[in-house]
Amino acid sequence: MSADRLNADRFLAACRREPVDRTPVWFMRQSGRYLPEYKKLREGRTLLEVCRTPELAVEATLLPLRRMDVDAAILFSDIMVPVAAIGVDLRIEEGVGPVVASPIRSTNDVRSLRPLHPDEDVPFVLDAIKLLRKELTVPLIGFAGAPFTLASYLIEGGPSRYHQRTKAFMHAEPTAWENLMGKLGDGVLAYLQAQIDAGAQAVQVFDSWVGALDPDDYLRFVLPTMREIFDGLGGRSAPRIHFGVGTGELLPLMRDAGSDVVGVDWRVPLHEAWERIGFDVAIQGNLDPAVCLAPWEAVEAKALSVLRRAAGRPGHVFNLGHGVLPDTPVETLQRLVELVHERTARPLDEAEARA
Ligand code: CP3
Repeated sequence: MSADRLNADRFLAACRREPVDRTPVWFMRQSGRYLPEYKKLREGRTLLEVCRTPELAVEATLLPLRRMDVDAAILFSDIMVPVAAIGVDLRIEEGVGPVVASPIRSTNDVRSLRPLHPDEDVPFVLDAIKLLRKELTVPLIGFAGAPFTLASYLIEGGPSRYHQRTKAFMHAEPTAWENLMGKLGDGVLAYLQAQIDAGAQAVQVFDSWVGALDPDDYLRFVLPTMREIFDGLGGRSAPRIHFGVGTGELLPLMRDAGSDVVGVDWRVPLHEAWERIGFDVAIQGNLDPAVCLAPWEAVEAKALSVLRRAAGRPGHVFNLGHGVLPDTPVETLQRLVELVHERTARPLDEAEARA
């Protein structure tokens, strides 16, 4: 079996908790402003323009793979792309994030959201995926924002520290909230199914801001929709990854949502997070991205402690606990990939290896 073949397999194998020759590694936001060539590609173009032009989205996806030996590619896009595609007036401001012109504040606003038809609304995403599959030697991860995180942008009108309007809305208008989650959940499921049909080999659902909720509210207002999404994707062969930030207290509930992999941030030590999730589900994480701005010796020590906590159990995908920060030195990520691969190299019995 050639090294290439193993390299192409190890990310998907780890998601399924199968034996791997090395712990796979990729980085959330691995295409981004820390790469000079990404800044060049973005010159004179908005983020949404890049996302809507398959050749540019393909190029942005490939940039990090030319720099380092990551074990997966993630489609270059944004969680707000399908939301804009159903007619919500929004822009993505550099250094700020998504800003929605007319936030959702009433039952009527929820009613006016129309369903997503991926083939007609986001053909450029599906075309980018098809083009990428011709170029890539590692698996391609598709993704979507989770209903809570999308709802937060739609209701707050932009990024928010406390998500107070969102929480007030879910408690004041539980029926409207349920309708909103139902509509967004249907859209996310259709979008991810279309990405898998176009060739995405794994999918990640980013519930970046759901850690703002307590477990009772998560259980009542979020979990049912997440279950429907992961159940709906269950019959397909693509592993499902479920990621959130600040979710320490929610991990057992996120496990119940039914993904194959749970992505965790750095706030809970990896072995503790894994215990809360259960060792029969794979885990992704969890180096603090801010540590990558420190000298290499510090990065190395923290990365090795993540690996020690994973303890060579099947089902660890190394990643940061959140996206790569813009000031991260490219060299630090390159060295991290090498470190993870070197320190986790293990003989893979031919009998265990899938042909
Ligand atoms: O590897 C990759 O870069 C994949 C592409 C990707 C982007 N956004 C491109 C992008 C992915 C996976 C996302 C997901 C996304 N978008 C999330 C979930 C992940 C997370 O960070 O929690 C969220 C919450 C968003 C919404 C969003 N879009 C934010 C908060 C921002 C940052 C604003 C800023 O400028 O700091 C964006 C903009 C954005 N999306 C950038 C990129 C590369 C950076 C700005 C730019 O290039 O214009």
